[in-house]
Amino acid sequence: MGFKVGIVGAGGMTRYHVPGFRSAGVEVVGLADPVPEARERTVKLHGIPAAYASLDDLLAAHKDVDIISILTPNKFHAPLAIQALRAGKHVFCEKPPALDAASTEQMAAEAKKAGKRLQFNFNNRARPESFAMMEYIRSGEVGRINSAQAVWCRRSGVPGFGGWFTDKSVSGGGPVIDLLHMLDLALHFLGYPEPEWVLAQTFRDFIDNRDFRGPWGIPDVPGGKIDVEAACHGFIRFRTGQVCFVRSSWAEMSERETVSVTFQGTKAGGVVERLFGVDGIDETSVDRCQLFTVEHGRHVNRNVIVPRDDAMGRLRSVQNFVRSLEGTEEPLNTPDQAVKLMKVVDALFASSASGEPVRVAR
Ligand SMILES: NC(=O)c1ccc[n+]([C@@H]2O[C@H](COP(=O)([O-])OP(=O)(O)OC[C@H]3O[C@@H](n4cnc5c(N)ncnc54)[C@H](O)[C@@H]3O)[C@@H](O)[C@H]2O)c1
Repeated sequence: MGFKVGIVGAGGMTRYHVPGFRSAGVEVVGLADPVPEARERTVKLHGIPAAYASLDDLLAAHKDVDIISILTPNKFHAPLAIQALRAGKHVFCEKPPALDAASTEQMAAEAKKAGKRLQFNFNNRARPESFAMMEYIRSGEVGRINSAQAVWCRRSGVPGFGGWFTDKSVSGGGPVIDLLHMLDLALHFLGYPEPEWVLAQTFRDFIDNRDFRGPWGIPDVPGGKIDVEAACHGFIRFRTGQVCFVRSSWAEMSERETVSVTFQGTKAGGVVERLFGVDGIDETSVDRCQLFTVEHGRHVNRNVIVPRDDAMGRLRSVQNFVRSLEGTEEPLNTPDQAVKLMKVVDALFASSASGEPVRVAR
């Protein structure tokens, strides 16, 4: 039996969710968005048969829909996911899971109660590099990973001034929340251990400086709120004794946009890295998936060759969600992991605000 999906949110991410579901054999039955121009433009662009003003209307018109895919601004993730789960639907939800750990816990509890799948779009786990690296990690070839460094730093990448991205009450935060992919990937490689201590500092320099606007993002809203951080540097210690350094920025004077997780294991180290070009992906961008080992008394760097995926796993991640419902693949992430991730995010903000290390509750 083929699944049916309803899409909620008619913004930029439909470029991946719609073809992603279709490539996995799922029928896209309708799209919901409160903004008429947005939904009309998007149904036309993707040939979606029906448009609705809300998730309520979509659910009323398609009682047999199996999946709700949520790609709205972050504040709406939790209420929409909970509504869809209570209606008995599986939910695929964009990152971040929610604005904080408490709402993510609520989503996880609702999924459990409904007996439905709740999966998040941590698409960087679905990149060919990440699948390859996880095979080395799972096979035991890297040993125990003691430490990792998670970096997503943009030199000039504020995604619009005064829109929902820079309004903390809608986004939950700036790059800490928006670029949490590498923290998630580092935790994935580390085995999603329980976080214990977090020490961090966020910075707001350049957050309202037009010289730091990204080449993508949403239109500026004159007079809109800009109350999020521009950069964060943090350190996490897990109950296992493992550690992770995390760095994220939308605006910081560094050489070039770097997206990477590096780790040090007891048998090998490794890195999954994308260095962006001056304007996104161009001929100067670099992808790297490498292992660092000692072989026959010599230090060796092993290049792992994988196909290039410019979509950075965004299609493959949707396919994994569908295949996990079909029972042919393990889900790439779980609600419990999302809760742990958001506990770290909460603690990064709390530590920065208090100037103290924060102990993360179990
Ligand atoms: N995984 C990734 O690589 C990636 C990349 C970019 C954005 N995202 C995430 O995807 C989500 C959407 O981002 P975007 O760039 O598409 O945003 P966007 O601003 O382009 O689009 C969001 C759309 O949601 C609509 N919307 C708002 N409230 C709604 C509601 N209650 N019901 C239905 N629709 C509603 C808006 O009208 C808008 O059309 C965000 O959570 C963002 O963090 C993920």
